[in-house]
Amino acid sequence: MTSGIVSRDHYAVIGNPVAHSKSPWIHARFAEQTGEGIEYGRVLGTIGAFANDVRAFAKAGGRGMNVTVPFKLDAHAFANTLTPRAAAAGAVNTLAFKADGVLGDNTDGVGLVRDIEGNLGVGLKGARVLLLGAGGAARGVMLPMLDGGVAALTIVNRTASKAQQLVDHFSDAARAVHVRFSCGASDIVEAGPYDVIVNATAGSLDDSLPDCDNGSFGPGTLAYDMMYSAQPTVFMRHAESLGARSADGLGMLVEQAVESFFLWRGVRPDSGAVLRALRLELSTKV
Ligand code: ATR
Repeated sequence: MTSGIVSRDHYAVIGNPVAHSKSPWIHARFAEQTGEGIEYGRVLGTIGAFANDVRAFAKAGGRGMNVTVPFKLDAHAFANTLTPRAAAAGAVNTLAFKADGVLGDNTDGVGLVRDIEGNLGVGLKGARVLLLGAGGAARGVMLPMLDGGVAALTIVNRTASKAQQLVDHFSDAARAVHVRFSCGASDIVEAGPYDVIVNATAGSLDDSLPDCDNGSFGPGTLAYDMMYSAQPTVFMRHAESLGARSADGLGMLVEQAVESFFLWRGVRPDSGAVLRALRLELSTKV
């Protein structure tokens, strides 16, 4: 397709629903900033026909896609090759259409790590981390967290057996790290305040607070909610009331987009200005 005399490469986010996605806005800012000639749109995916939708987009000249709810597992199955972090996550949020096939990557976990370390200034090396939740979001951040050199990683989940499964799944990657499985309040209290607590549960969607002992939060704790909204989430408010510092997942959203853009274009946009603009956008639109 052409725009004037310049041919633009096409990308899109696929999800269902997808109208709310901020990815087109973010990638448009990245394109302006870097001068990369891309167009980035939205595709409303058909439940049960993900592969057809992606093939149609690629056939029309698409170069890559971001994948969001509920298609990350479909994308994992669809890709011909997976990056190690996508294989570990068991889910794909970025597809790149290449001459030799479809590459599947997962940039969510590295996005979280970059936000915590780069934007929020909290080093993960040697940190004691508490991960709340054991679903897809939690699994997606496990390998990047372990790669970040955390000293201890405790996983707490409403359904304890799923936390155990997650620990078992990552036991090889965690060999050099002290990973401790916990599902009861007493274990958590014993550990005292954590350096970082990440809420990877879906609790913030319905305003519910995941089970977590108050003793896990202290003045030196960063309490990070992977969700975001115009107002602080219930988890963030709870953490602040216990003296902890809190953050939402907006920075993670921008950082995962940076990594997708880099995979496609080989250029890494600067996230800072885009994150500030997105924050402003969020606070004025809702
Ligand atoms: P996602 O891909 O967003 O992680 P998921 O795989 O369905 O979605 O996982 C949701 C996670 O949030 C799970 O850890 C779930 O706990 P269970 O394994 O016990 O189902 C957790 N979760 C959802 N609602 C919750 C709530 N109200 N309080 C605490 N945990 C909750």
